[in-house]
Amino acid sequence: MPRCNVKRTVLFLLIVGFTCIVIHSCRSSDWLTHDPWKLKEKEVKLVIPLRQIPNNQSFHLKPAIKLSHQNILALNQGNASLIHELHFQNSTFICRNGGILTVKSGGRLGNLMGEYATLWALAKRDGFFPVLQHRTYITLTKYFLETSIPTITNLNCSLKWNSMNLHVYNKLHKEERIKIAKEGIFIDGYPTSVSLFHRHRNDIVNEFRFKKHYVERAQAELHRLRENRQDVVFVGVHVRRTDYSQFLQGRFQAQLVGETYFTRAMNYFRKKFPSSLFVVASDDMDWCRSHLKPQNNDIVYAGNRNIESPAEDMALLVACNHTIISYGNFGFWSAYLSGGEVILAGNISRMPTELQHSIRSANISHWQFFPGF
Ligand SMILES: *[C@@H]1O[C@H](CO)[C@@H](O)[C@H](O)[C@H]1NC(C)=O
Ligand SMILES: *[C@@H]1O[C@H](CO)[C@@H](O)[C@H](O)[C@H]1NC(C)=O
Ligand SMILES: *[C@@H]1O[C@H](CO)[C@@H](O)[C@H](O)[C@H]1NC(C)=O
Ligand SMILES: *[C@@H]1O[C@H](CO)[C@@H](O)[C@H](O)[C@H]1NC(C)=O
Ligand SMILES: *[C@@H]1O[C@H](CO)[C@@H](O)[C@H](O)[C@H]1NC(C)=O
Ligand SMILES: *[C@@H]1O[C@H](CO)[C@@H](O)[C@H](O)[C@H]1NC(C)=O
Ligand SMILES: *[C@@H]1O[C@H](CO)[C@@H](O)[C@H](O)[C@H]1NC(C)=O
Repeated sequence: MPRCNVKRTVLFLLIVGFTCIVIHSCRSSDWLTHDPWKLKEKEVKLVIPLRQIPNNQSFHLKPAIKLSHQNILALNQGNASLIHELHFQNSTFICRNGGILTVKSGGRLGNLMGEYATLWALAKRDGFFPVLQHRTYITLTKYFLETSIPTITNLNCSLKWNSMNLHVYNKLHKEERIKIAKEGIFIDGYPTSVSLFHRHRNDIVNEFRFKKHYVERAQAELHRLRENRQDVVFVGVHVRRTDYSQFLQGRFQAQLVGETYFTRAMNYFRKKFPSSLFVVASDDMDWCRSHLKPQNNDIVYAGNRNIESPAEDMALLVACNHTIISYGNFGFWSAYLSGGEVILAGNISRMPTELQHSIRSANISHWQFFPGF
């Protein structure tokens, strides 16, 4: 029955094709669950200038945006005006005059900060004007006092925007970069290069100063947590679990680090600073409470947290004197901005994660990897 076979074959191919499409779309939608912006990401991927901004496109505009002094953008809801020039520190970008660079807005707070810092460093290195995707701009200006890279939203230039990943971009010759940057370069992926931006550490730390109420809240919470202990050395502990497990398993065949790692790291600080107080922030507090073993009551837990408002946790960890992190961008930034000694998990998989690799090559002083298991 050849006819039936043909039908069956066609049906089989259709099923295989459909399955591939489903798998592909699941994979490419990245590993970040619970991201309220995930669906919006595609829409804001490239804000094509030269198009009137409809009144309702400001779906993620929040009131109370504090703009950098120089960015005289009218970002009131529904009244965004298109302009032909942008300012960043002392430089001005005018349409079709010089190179311009932007990065994808991918992931949550920690990722966005890494992308921002990488964009900053690339712009400095290559002499191009940096500009942010609006989603990144809105998120960062919500938490930080004064980030200085402007948003692309209101730029009225007709640019083509050449999209490429960081690796490809870095491979380009200088002349080539200059040529295509005139049409705009859009760096795709989740570009984060610690070794690149670590050279500008002071500038970067300055960009990410938390707004006053986050700082005050963090100090108040540390004060509450220390109770009547004297001369405390605060050691922030970030325990990343939940959905990171799938990411590590899927991409690196690695597992979450367990209590052995945290005990070893805490013992290091206990020995060095006998008055250490470990301030734990985590997306899985239950796990922490049953696995982290206090000595003389030296572990305290940050208040109940909402995963959608990560800035409180980060500000708290930043206010601590030293940091123990597991992995991930959120932990990285909490530790990096805190500025003290940092312990992080190494050798958790055969291949290091991109971030681990990037941190290692940055050779940050007072950071050390402890074995993950
Ligand atoms: C925005 O407005 C346009 C036309 O004014 C309309 O077609 C579109 O559906 C609106 N989008 C949303 C998300 O409301
Ligand atoms: C938009 O801003 C201009 C001044 O910048 C103002 O005159 C106008 O009333 C505003 N429109 C709306 C709808 O708010
Ligand atoms: C955007 O730029 C184009 C070309 O320079 C100009 O014709 C248009 O009026 C501008 N739009 C606004 C709203 O400024
Ligand atoms: C901007 O220019 C002023 C003086 O023109 C200079 O003092 C300042 O350091 C410059 N800032 C940056 C970030 O280059
Ligand atoms: C440790 O952190 C606390 C809280 O932020 C701060 O008050 C204190 O000055 C820090 N200690 C040192 C030595 O930096
Ligand atoms: C890393 O930094 C330390 C000093 O902080 C230095 O002694 C060492 O040579 C550096 N290693 C590399 C590979 O650059
Ligand atoms: C990780 O593995 C490398 C190579 O096997 C080794 O040199 C390094 O000391 C290990 N680091 C940790 C923190 O275990």
